Amino acid sequence: RAVVRTANYHDLHTYGIYRGYDGMINGDIKRIETRDVANILHRGGTILKTARSKEFRTKEGRKKAYDSLMAYDIDACIVIGGDGSFTGAKIFQEEYNIPFIGLPGTIDNDLIGTNYTIGFDTACNTAIEAIDKIRDTADSHNRLFFVEVMGRHSGYIALYTGIGSGAGTVLLPETNTSNEELASLLTKAAKRGKLFSVVVVAEGNNSGNATEVAEKVSKLLPDHETKVAVIGHLQRGGSPTSFDRMLASRLGYEAVNALMAGKGNTAI
Ligand code: F6P
Repeated sequence: RAVVRTANYHDLHTYGIYRGYDGMINGDIKRIETRDVANILHRGGTILKTARSKEFRTKEGRKKAYDSLMAYDIDACIVIGGDGSFTGAKIFQEEYNIPFIGLPGTIDNDLIGTNYTIGFDTACNTAIEAIDKIRDTADSHNRLFFVEVMGRHSGYIALYTGIGSGAGTVLLPETNTSNEELASLLTKAAKRGKLFSVVVVAEGNNSGNATEVAEKVSKLLPDHETKVAVIGHLQRGGSPTSFDRMLASRLGYEAVNALMAGKGNTAI
């Protein structure tokens, strides 16, 4: 929205490329203007749709993508995505000399060069809201809950969600906590009078996902009643937080400024 509106303000033409690089390859491209992005600010997901493109990884695929861009007279691109999208943009720009600007958009917050990626704050808030609700059952029934949040390779969501929801322990892909260590931490907490616990587990945690860890740890702690909750794709949707709206608006605005200043091959 911010890209289209900033560009149109400067009398630049804007096109939407649908379904990511697949759409670029297949010419799934439409003119979009200021009014086309009305009433989307508060929505999750993407009006452009998205896809993981295998074909764009090939030279032939990128040649087709280049031909589509030329057919529409497109001379610069702004790509919103994570490291896969940025890698594709970098390779393409090197081959075809069309400036690309990247906008960091992934709930995982695992991109270098930015403190926050678009979507991360919303995902954390969704997970925290869910854990606040799970905490009620954990507390009422004195249960041990393993809550799994997203993050295949990155523990940011788990870490922020864990701290923000007051979880007893957080298990991440970036650290190594053995099941024995975890069981001992939980036993110590129980001895201090902690009657229930929430353990936040990143999907890509080193010692296994929430279900796997719960199964092993419950054998070490037979006195605890153990439950598992997987928040899953709930974190990938819904209305963005004010932080994400501001971030996306500012980044989109600066992406157009960067292109107008002759920049490319960079991320905002
Ligand atoms: O890369 C973002 C992410 O949300 C990861 O945290 C998660 O593992 C993955 O995408 C889920 O992808 P899919 O919806 O394809 O299963």
